[in-house]
Amino acid sequence: APTCLDLCVTTDDFEAAAKETLSEKSWIYASSSASSGLSHQSNLDDWSRINFRPRIMRNVNSIDTSRNILGRKSKLPFFISAMGTLGSSHPGAEPLLVQSATRMGVDAVISTATSKSLEAIMKAHQNEQERLGNLSPSRLAFQLYVPSDRTKARDLIQRVKAAGYQSLWITVDSSTQGKRTADRYLQAQEKLDQGGEVVRQAASDNAFGPAFGGRPTAGYLHPALNWEDLAWISQEWDGPVVLKGVQSVEDVKLAVQYGVQGVLLSNHGGRQIHSAPSALMTLLEIRTYYPEAFDKLEVFVDGGLRDGADVLKALCLGATAVGVGRPYYYALAAYGGEGADKCTEILTEELEICMKMLGVSTLQQLHPDMVNATRLLSE
Ligand code: FNR
Repeated sequence: APTCLDLCVTTDDFEAAAKETLSEKSWIYASSSASSGLSHQSNLDDWSRINFRPRIMRNVNSIDTSRNILGRKSKLPFFISAMGTLGSSHPGAEPLLVQSATRMGVDAVISTATSKSLEAIMKAHQNEQERLGNLSPSRLAFQLYVPSDRTKARDLIQRVKAAGYQSLWITVDSSTQGKRTADRYLQAQEKLDQGGEVVRQAASDNAFGPAFGGRPTAGYLHPALNWEDLAWISQEWDGPVVLKGVQSVEDVKLAVQYGVQGVLLSNHGGRQIHSAPSALMTLLEIRTYYPEAFDKLEVFVDGGLRDGADVLKALCLGATAVGVGRPYYYALAAYGGEGADKCTEILTEELEICMKMLGVSTLQQLHPDMVNATRLLSE
């Protein structure tokens, strides 16, 4: 039977549906960004400011969207970005999302700031894997906020390793918490309304537990974190390491020097430093000033990617794969696991359509000449 889900044709449609569904607090948690929102907006805007240079008559009868990511073959060149406290989106939280990811064969990065334990989330993934005869190419990675207490950090890394996560994505853009303007207004308004008491709680707001409050606590924002810490973290982890939140060519060079397997070019969905470069601008910076980077490590990108075409643009410029954040939060909020399935379906279909009309049958055929970024670069 037809459902409201049929009305979701683009990933943006989940946003409108989620706004109707979510409590005010959860809506603001997901949609908000730092200060004026400039960095989030430029993430969104910039993808549409570069164009394709399509090629014709190149036999695109069969299309292959697979991609090698950190030594494993993935079915798709996009993954679900790390998002904390998914219980604020849907009571099924991370387990529901990873079940969908497993069904759909898409990879997911699990946040340190989860609503459920990292072991329970892995279990949900494994159970779904088993149900599907272990045929899903989907894998889970773990996003690490490095606790400032080293014993705690080692314990956490050991738990992540024991649970079977494939790779470690260390968030390096969070020496402190970005100024989330909308959260501040909400808190202030609640205080005013209730004479100091916060009582306007929706069910989903319980997800913002004392452990994180939807945010990493002070112990997880580690202002002293530095390059030398990579040595003991990598030793403890003993697997692929990606730095999440790299925003300059200088730091990509350091990442190569320090021998990590990947960098995720990201401004944290515009939620951390105000006036950050958009994800695309950082990617162009690396493409222009250090093109060798793409041969030395895997370059990932997230922020504002909302269409399969955006995914393809990033790949043309050299990205191995890209992350998608908010659309999955919104899809889960509005339609649960089926919403997340649909989000993957939409992006996959758009990707396939776009590959065909660009004239490529595999992602390996993509090339920087297939996009025109002069409009952005000439400013
Ligand atoms: C995030 N992001 C994030 N990043 C991280 O390293 N750890 C985290 O716990 C979270 N939590 C989180 C929650 C929510 C609700 C959002 C929207 C984002 C940032 C995330 O990994 C990613 O960088 C951005 O979401 C990508 O941008 P888009 O796709 O949301 O525009």
